[in-house]
Amino acid sequence: MIPTGPKDFQDACSTMQVPQKGVFFTSIGSQDVMLARNAAGDIVAFSGFCTHSMGRLEGGPVEGDEIICPHHGARFNFRTGQAKTSCPNLPKFEVKVEGRRVLVRPAR
Ligand code: FES
Repeated sequence: MIPTGPKDFQDACSTMQVPQKGVFFTSIGSQDVMLARNAAGDIVAFSGFCTHSMGRLEGGPVEGDEIICPHHGARFNFRTGQAKTSCPNLPKFEVKVEGRRVLVRPAR
């Protein structure tokens, strides 16, 4: 395998792992990645770290289209990354699908 740098797309998961409703978490290196589907059903990826205080969002409860940070309760729309509280929106990562694999370009 050719070594990849942080600017490259990296294999994140199978398309089957990303639910129609809800979220799927994985990691690429030290970057937590939260994957979901937008309103059109396309796969989207965001940082898995809360913008309030960088807590991990994984394990937070999901209500409707929102994930709630398990640390202090910040809410984010998991289809858009939009914050529903006073925090910044979740950073969005580029996604491309090749066959059944989801590739994500994490933060630089
Ligand atoms: S770290 Fe998420 S609400 Fe504080």
